[in-house]
Amino acid sequence: MSIPEFSRVPDSPYSDDVKAVEALAQALAAVDFSYEGIRGLLGEGPFAALARDHVVPARHRIRQVLGGEVAARPGQRRLAGAVELFMLGGGTSQEGLDAVLGEGAFETLRALNLIEEADGRWVSAVDLTPHAADDGTELWVASDLGAHQRPGALKRDHVLGIGQASLTLAQFTERRPVRSALDLGTGCGIQVFHLLAHAERVTATDLSERALAFTRFNLILNAGALGLDPSRLGDRVELLRGSLLEPVAGREFDLVVSNPPFVITPRREDEDELYTYRDGGLPGDQLVSELLGALPGILAPGGRAQLLGNWEIHEIDAEAPQTGPRQDQRDDSQEPRPAWDARPRRWIPATADAWIIQREELSPEEYAETWLRDASQQRDPEAFEAASLDYSRDFASRGVAAVGFGMIWLRRPEGEAALRRFEEIGHPIQQPVAPAITAAVEAHDALERMDDERLRAAHLTVAGDVTEERHQRPGAEHPGVILLRQGAGLRRTELLSTEAAGFVSACDGELSAGQILDALGALLEWEDEGPASDLLLHIRRLVGHGFLELTARS
Ligand SMILES: C[S@@+](CC[C@H](N)C(=O)[O-])C[C@H]1O[C@@H](n2cnc3c(N)ncnc32)[C@H](O)[C@@H]1O
Repeated sequence: MSIPEFSRVPDSPYSDDVKAVEALAQALAAVDFSYEGIRGLLGEGPFAALARDHVVPARHRIRQVLGGEVAARPGQRRLAGAVELFMLGGGTSQEGLDAVLGEGAFETLRALNLIEEADGRWVSAVDLTPHAADDGTELWVASDLGAHQRPGALKRDHVLGIGQASLTLAQFTERRPVRSALDLGTGCGIQVFHLLAHAERVTATDLSERALAFTRFNLILNAGALGLDPSRLGDRVELLRGSLLEPVAGREFDLVVSNPPFVITPRREDEDELYTYRDGGLPGDQLVSELLGALPGILAPGGRAQLLGNWEIHEIDAEAPQTGPRQDQRDDSQEPRPAWDARPRRWIPATADAWIIQREELSPEEYAETWLRDASQQRDPEAFEAASLDYSRDFASRGVAAVGFGMIWLRRPEGEAALRRFEEIGHPIQQPVAPAITAAVEAHDALERMDDERLRAAHLTVAGDVTEERHQRPGAEHPGVILLRQGAGLRRTELLSTEAAGFVSACDGELSAGQILDALGALLEWEDEGPASDLLLHIRRLVGHGFLELTARS
């Protein structure tokens, strides 16, 4: 019998022995190796610290449980042993492993290539962490051990576990039923597990063979929760090795998600290996620009993509189409810094709809520090200094003033592209944010089909999460500032004129927008149509951003 692809990749979990993977799943379930089980065992504080990769409080608690210093429920000592092994970098004997996970566990773990010998003890070769998805599905996810679980800098082909970026992408992904979905740069497979809940078939790609081996292992380990038949994995999941869009050239998908290796990394002539989990090997932000340019080409008509990315914000926009004086004749000291979106705007083909939300902006120094620490490069002070200098020179060579990070939404429209939104939202938003994105896109599409006459005929209501806030100087007759606030979704705030506030307060679905405008005009004695057309523009914006909703009568 042939060995299925990616089922026996060296230095990765093996998944060719399905029975052994199933035995491990049973052993984990038997000790309640679950999100809630471990939270209950560790307590809120140590559990939260562990999620931030701070292991000390969890280790302390586990030692107390194993040493009998604190009361533990029956079975919790075995769970403590499993947590120590798979999450805290602890080691034990062959008998110890069997005592924790049941008879035969040692053989099973060996067969799956999950343990290795270190200083006469058996330690886990992988991190295994329970993950509770937003829809309640409980999973176990194997990935490479993190910096907090093993000494030294990370491996160059490190397979990431579930990080904040993975969750951000999962929460940004629209969970609409689709026939085909692609996860580009799958890592441990986290996005695939979520996609299986609403996509008939999922394709996962990665440059790293090890990443695909982890994904395959995780799929089989969680086959029950994911509704997969391990012997017929190929019916629903396809794993392809290759760079970026190369393995799926010529194909189309209804949905593409990606947390690509976008981290800007100084390129060096004597470059050895890359940190493939985050670095695509191209200079500056070229990987993101190339991906945004090409990605709409693999979307089916109406297909959408959601991805994460970052972009350099340059002191001078050297690539901008020239209208004024030539670049070398301009007095740049007078020029304001180009907008953050000047470059990303140009990367997206004119045929695609796009919405980019910049969530964060870092100075070049903050950016370098973040990513050097991410790979624990500060553990070697000399290398850290050299790498910091490389970053400074690299950013300076392109005049980088800052680096923006955010979420990117793309669509291949069925007709002409009409949606282009580039905005900065730095405040906390509701998670998962995807339903708000879907609703905003639906509102945008509905408004596109409405001329002003149809909008005037529409009946509107105020969305359930919206409140009004009035600010007034003590003793003033009228409020100086009226704000409309969203409690959910993107949690926007909108400044209203007195007329707009009057309009919104009458939106209970009874009167049409035109009738409300006419009534306002009569009340406020507008001459001709007064500010009605400006107000109509504002109403479009309020509907587009979800403050007002079109009712079925519209
Ligand atoms: C930031 S990780 C994302 C992992 C996972 N999808 C998540 O959401 O956490 C990026 C992944 O892209 C892969 N990768 C790196 N270079 C690639 C390339 N040129 N083409 C495809 N995948 C690549 C890495 O191996 C890694 O698994």
